[in-house]
Amino acid sequence: MTAEPTPEHAPTALTSTDGSPLRYLVVGAGNRCEMYLRSLLEEHADVAVLVGIGDTNPGRAEYFRAFAAERSAGSVIVFDPTDLEAVVRAERVDRVIVTTPDHTHAQLICRALRAGADVVVEKPLTVDDAGTRAIAHAVEETGRTVVVTFNYRYSPRNTALKEVVQSGRIGRVTSIDFTWMLDTVHGADYFRRWHRLKENSGGLLVHKSSHHFDLVNWWLSDSPERVYASGGLRFYGPDNAAADGRVRHGRAVGSQDPFALDLRTDDRLTRLYLDNEKHDGYRRNQDVFEGEITIEDNLALVVDYAQGATLSYSLNAHCPWEGYRVAVNGTRGRAELDVVERAAVLPASGGSPVDPSVTAGPDHDGARHRGDRLVVQEHWGAAEEITIHTGEGSHGGGDRLLLADVFRGPHDDPFGRPSDYRDGIAAVAVGIAGNRSLETGSPVRVRELDLGPVLSRTVGSRPASEAGSGPDARPTSDAVAGSSESAEVPA
Ligand SMILES: NC(=O)c1ccc[n+]([C@@H]2O[C@H](COP(=O)([O-])OP(=O)(O)OC[C@H]3O[C@@H](n4cnc5c(N)ncnc54)[C@H](O)[C@@H]3O)[C@@H](O)[C@H]2O)c1
Repeated sequence: MTAEPTPEHAPTALTSTDGSPLRYLVVGAGNRCEMYLRSLLEEHADVAVLVGIGDTNPGRAEYFRAFAAERSAGSVIVFDPTDLEAVVRAERVDRVIVTTPDHTHAQLICRALRAGADVVVEKPLTVDDAGTRAIAHAVEETGRTVVVTFNYRYSPRNTALKEVVQSGRIGRVTSIDFTWMLDTVHGADYFRRWHRLKENSGGLLVHKSSHHFDLVNWWLSDSPERVYASGGLRFYGPDNAAADGRVRHGRAVGSQDPFALDLRTDDRLTRLYLDNEKHDGYRRNQDVFEGEITIEDNLALVVDYAQGATLSYSLNAHCPWEGYRVAVNGTRGRAELDVVERAAVLPASGGSPVDPSVTAGPDHDGARHRGDRLVVQEHWGAAEEITIHTGEGSHGGGDRLLLADVFRGPHDDPFGRPSDYRDGIAAVAVGIAGNRSLETGSPVRVRELDLGPVLSRTVGSRPASEAGSGPDARPTSDAVAGSSESAEVPA
């Protein structure tokens, strides 16, 4: 495999009007913020200045202030998030990076925008329709930007599939099969902490699957129109534990239980979470078989897209291996992407909250091999394996490409990977509609949800006027990931 060329960025593409580096705050000093801090302090330090770190937990904010102090000569302040507006103004902050739990995103985004800063936010943009409406209105009111960091788009294998679909080689897309397997390490981790309550994360349909729905929106350059969902909590949680005869040990520290996470076995987890429980009571390692859990671990969806394709999607959060399978059927052929991120979870390696897409594991376990494979087969032709251009670092080098776009300004990307809040809304639209469908038992039309002002362009790299312009293209329908309002939202 060869490396994707580094994108060409204008050296001063993203700086203040006087040419000085942009000034940043990071809100949310948990696991995810470290990637942004490293970028700000290392690779992109010539175009960005880290001004401050805010968190409701002062211990975690201080952990990352010390992290920054080790890497930078400049001073970094720690601030209380209730003072966000005052800090933005006093410190002349240009951009706020939001890496807090999902349910807090909407409020923090709106506050940062109204205080005069642009926003970079982790997926999912928000968890519900109230959040999408609030963000859309704040963007409209302030004219400021919200970048949603959809790192999966930048993963070389996902970009390679985008290139195949965009080339028109398999014709007009008629349907997609998409299966996502989370294993008993990574999948279980969503049931240990704040994600386990739907009010915090929107459930896996929003928290996790928004990555996947964004990929489909982007691969197809299309918008979801109607969603039917079915699923439930069938493995984790106390009721399933009782039904399956599992003996529980409470928080189970020091036990041999592979589902237990002992924070003391990892210095970073100890210092970040265990040592700071005293401030807010946030327990990073709750038992996945005890306590209140209101999210699903098995999910299946059928999603109709505006230009006529149908997505069948499933997610399982207790698989013995981790990865995904996508098959895209078109009027001229079919593309298949098969990915194994972790071939097996063996008891000795259990208990770690590590996401296998970020950290390398063994190349193979038994019959399953770690890796990815993209195969395209046109009608009446032989199957062809497509080379996937892999780079260095997490997500096959994709995170590095994403961060370059975020901190240096989006380059002229033929695949349209940079994403804004409209892509963020289109991605959570499927999960929000799916959650409504789970409640009602009926299909839900996305336009019935009031997600904010209409998104009048299709998502992805091509504007609506070009979307579907490949072979056998159909006219774009008027379906949008938005409400019945007609005003276009400024970018
Ligand atoms: N793109 C990806 O691959 C990826 C991977 C992991 C996490 N994420 C996203 O990153 C975000 C953070 O996830 P995480 O795993 O770091 O969570 P975490 O629990 O480790 O950290 C969240 C931090 O936010 C703080 N916090 C909570 N409420 C706050 C508030 N109102 N104001 C300020 N700080 C607050 C917490 O104290 C904690 O330190 C989530 O939105 C998650 O979906 C994305």
